[in-house]
Amino acid sequence: MRKGLIVANWKMHGQRASNAALIHALNAGLTKQSDVDILVCPPSIYLEQIKALLAGSNILLGAQNTHSEETGAYTGEISAGMLKDMGCTHVILGHSERRELFQESDEFIAGKFTAAQTRGLIPILCVGETLAQREADETANIVLGQLEVVLKHAGVVAFGNAVIAYEPVWAIGTGLTASPEQAQQVHALIRNKIAEQDAGVAGDIRILYGGSVKADNAVELFAQQDIDGGLVGGASLIVEEFLRICSSYT
Ligand code: PGA
Repeated sequence: MRKGLIVANWKMHGQRASNAALIHALNAGLTKQSDVDILVCPPSIYLEQIKALLAGSNILLGAQNTHSEETGAYTGEISAGMLKDMGCTHVILGHSERRELFQESDEFIAGKFTAAQTRGLIPILCVGETLAQREADETANIVLGQLEVVLKHAGVVAFGNAVIAYEPVWAIGTGLTASPEQAQQVHALIRNKIAEQDAGVAGDIRILYGGSVKADNAVELFAQQDIDGGLVGGASLIVEEFLRICSSYT
C-alpha cells in the first residue's frame, strides 16, 4: 500500500507574516493522518523561517527547484546540498513553469534529479503535456518522453527513491482540471512505463496529480487507483482549501 503525499507548492508567493499565519493554521488544523505525508515547498529564501515554524510538526519541508551542480559560479542558484543543509527532504524538479519560462531541458532536469539524490533529497519529477500537445494526441509521447530522459540518465532503481508528478500544463493555474479518468489514464501509462523496467519500483512509486487541485475535486482524483496524492499550487495558499484537500486523502 503506497502512502499518499500532498505537496503545497507556494511558487513565488508569501512574506514572513503571511507565511507564519499559514503555517500556524496548518499546524493547528491538520489532523494526524498515518496514510499521507504533507510537504510544504515555500520560496527558498523562506526555508529557514518555515523550518523553525515546523519544529515539532509532522509537516515536511521541500524546495521548488535546485541546480545540477553542487557549487561554483552560478549566480542566483541554490544547490541540492544547500537545500539539504536547510532541512529539506524533497525538491520539485522540472515544473512546467521552469521548463517553459526558464527553458529547462529534459537533460538539465535529469542532471538536477541525480544531484538531488546524491545529496539525500527526494526529487519530485514533474511531467506534463500542453493543450496543443493533448489536442494533437501527443500526451503519451510527451509525458513518457520527459520521463524517459530521466530514466535513461538516472536508471530505474533511482526511481525507488523519487516521486513523479503528472501535471497537464493546461490545467495549471487555469481552473481547468483533468477529469479523474483523464488523469488516471496518464498515471497508469507512467506506472506501466516504469514497470517495463522494474515492477517493484513501479508498484511503490508515488505518482501525484497536479493542476487546479481543489477541495471540491480532490476526493475523486485521489480515489483513482494510480493517483497517490497531489501537487497543489493556488489552493495550497488558502488554509481551509488545503486542509480539506489533505483530509480528502483516505
Ligand atoms: P495549481 O498549480 O494548483 O495552481 O494549478 C499546481 C502546480 O503548478 O504545481
